[in-house]
Amino acid sequence: MKNVTIMGAGYVGLPTAAHWASQHNVTVYDPFNDKIKCVKGTIEGKNDNYIHEKGLDEKLRNNKSRLIFTSSLENALENPDFVFIAVGTPPNNKGRADLSYVAQAASDIGKVINKDCIVVNKSTVPPGTAYLVEEKINDELKKRGEQYNISVGSCPEFMAEGTAMENLRTPDRIVFGCDNPKALDALTNFFLYQHDRSRLVPMRTVSSELTKYAANSMLASRLSFMNELSILCDEIGADVKEIERGIGLDFRIGKKFLKAGFGYGGSCFGKDTMAISQFGRLSGVDLGVINAAIKANGDVVDHFFQKIRQHYAGNLSGRNLAIWGVGFKAGTDDLRDSRSVELVKRLERDGANLVVYDPVPMALTNFNQLGLANCVTCNEQYDTALEKIDGIVIGNEAMSFRDPDISKLTVMRNKVIFDGKNCVVEPALNDLRENGFIYKSMGKDIMAACVDKNKLVRFLEEEYMS
Ligand code: UDX
Repeated sequence: MKNVTIMGAGYVGLPTAAHWASQHNVTVYDPFNDKIKCVKGTIEGKNDNYIHEKGLDEKLRNNKSRLIFTSSLENALENPDFVFIAVGTPPNNKGRADLSYVAQAASDIGKVINKDCIVVNKSTVPPGTAYLVEEKINDELKKRGEQYNISVGSCPEFMAEGTAMENLRTPDRIVFGCDNPKALDALTNFFLYQHDRSRLVPMRTVSSELTKYAANSMLASRLSFMNELSILCDEIGADVKEIERGIGLDFRIGKKFLKAGFGYGGSCFGKDTMAISQFGRLSGVDLGVINAAIKANGDVVDHFFQKIRQHYAGNLSGRNLAIWGVGFKAGTDDLRDSRSVELVKRLERDGANLVVYDPVPMALTNFNQLGLANCVTCNEQYDTALEKIDGIVIGNEAMSFRDPDISKLTVMRNKVIFDGKNCVVEPALNDLRENGFIYKSMGKDIMAACVDKNKLVRFLEEEYMS
């Protein structure tokens, strides 16, 4: 059993703490006392947690005897073997990761640490940040006239929101890096408490830092590839879902992260692609593929927006639309870089009135805080489908959107569904068709019979047979 301190009780720090406390003594430090109070209250069953993550609260309660939450630095850093930094690195106005919270955490460690330990950065950062952390800690130690043996490494987190607890329990791999071989061994032994050696990927510090950006940018590029392809599918009457299957079964490609839609969102893909693009540029390397992925992610939202707009003859003014799903994906309250919110803003700017629903109540609370005009939130999915509604826009792939109760939708004054995530399942699509609904999606609009076969043939004759 080790003593672990986690700096930062956010989407990464809190689930990680809950998970590791099955085996170790874990102290979580966060300077915001409100968060500390809230999570303590959650453990005692007094209030809801401040983040919505499946299985988190239960894990916190089960492991409460090995968990300490504090906003006192001295208490947090009393006797750690490992200190993990898990603070935010939000993009700044230049699209670069803001390292000030990481630097602050490093200085805080240097100010109060009283023993040798290993400091590991879990926040997503540009390569080289571990060296910066080391310098910040040593600067503070020097000021105090103290000298401890502190190695700094990196261990990027790959858990996805909504499945964080499962990802922590059974990760595909654990990537970690440290240039000091002894510290790397100590980290290996730490992870061996919970995971098989075959899952561990020890490496140099900068490689580990870059691996996080590389993984997210690879997935984001893959999605942008599919999302762009869906636009071409709309054009020629192909079905992107069929293509997903057609290429996904090629084991070299695989089935995951091929689902086309109106763009990827969340706290990582947008931020990390932008950050690595900037980092490449500043290092004199033009990362053309990643830049193209970023551009495509903007273009697909525009494509979906135009599709909705065109349906109403280019005029959204006074149109009442129901928005189903504002979380950046299903099952989260997180609106960071949510494509749905981006779309809502555009629809609203164009004069539409919006009734917004999400199955995660906290997502609606967060949405209300955005203070957008012409938007009301609604706690019931089918209250959005009132007689005055001109169309439903599906913004994430929540379970209840995939197979909607069509009998409750027939009251809509305009029977149209825009499925930005291609998530409505086949039997429900048939029902929609039979009930006179128009269904529009990203790359499978064949159902809307908008494809002109003759046009395609004439185009081939003209362009390919001369
Ligand atoms: C991501 C990475 O998956 C995780 O490993 C990393 O460490 C943090 O960032 P997360 O942001 O929680 O996790 O969400 P993820 O499930 O990866 O989805 C990201 C976006 O891609 C969402 O907007 C989702 O809707 C979209 N997506 C995902 C698709 O559009 N199609 C897919 O097939 C898969």
